[in-house]
Amino acid sequence: LRGVVALDGPSGTGKSTVARQLAVGYTARYLDTGAMYRAATLAVLRAEAPLDDPAAVTEVVTAADLRVGTDPSHPTVALDGEDVSAEIRGPEVTGAVSAVSAVPTVRTRLVGHQRSLIREALSTVGGVVVEGRDIGTEVVPDAGLKVFLTASVEVRARRRSVQDSAAGRRATLTATQADVERRDTLDSTRAVAPLRAAPDAVEVDTSDLDVSGVLSRLRELVEQ
Ligand code: C5P
Repeated sequence: LRGVVALDGPSGTGKSTVARQLAVGYTARYLDTGAMYRAATLAVLRAEAPLDDPAAVTEVVTAADLRVGTDPSHPTVALDGEDVSAEIRGPEVTGAVSAVSAVPTVRTRLVGHQRSLIREALSTVGGVVVEGRDIGTEVVPDAGLKVFLTASVEVRARRRSVQDSAAGRRATLTATQADVERRDTLDSTRAVAPLRAAPDAVEVDTSDLDVSGVLSRLRELVEQ
């Protein structure tokens, strides 16, 4: 795998799992941009900055020391030197992340950071799989391959709830589906870099595919 594979789509489409496995299989790097927005959100929550105050949110995010590792076998996320990889998946962060990621200055900062991690990956191993919402549209508009993963909201809510219970987080399927729908709406209606497929992205509907089915489709696209 050479260059950038941009993997976008809403939550619950299986993006993270397939992005990591794809990167492992091709000895490429892996960048989880959602983890960066989540760690930035955790910083805002810890600082108790009001979520509806873009200046206060920006100040916290600017001061935060966010570090993400790009090894697909050991993805790491640290905030101010502390491993926060479990905490950023919890309900508090999930509930607040769309508000933080809608702040334009937060996006500018994180997109700059993402581009520098991507440049570093390209100069070291030559290939990187980047997952998020705006990779093909904003972060790397000239990516060699852009894929937009979709799945029905019911399927995505079910996947999220399986992941949540595996991690010991309890929520009813109804609550999880409501949360998935709420984030879809917020992420796709925000003013800056709304969630949408790039015009040149290949759409892959994962509703009826398991992880290995999605992976084989992606490998086909990489090898085309
Ligand atoms: O992918 P994940 O569910 O971890 O992303 C968490 C949130 O981060 C998304 O709901 C979205 O608000 C934000 N995000 C974003 N742009 C990205 C990646 C994630 O706005 N490239």
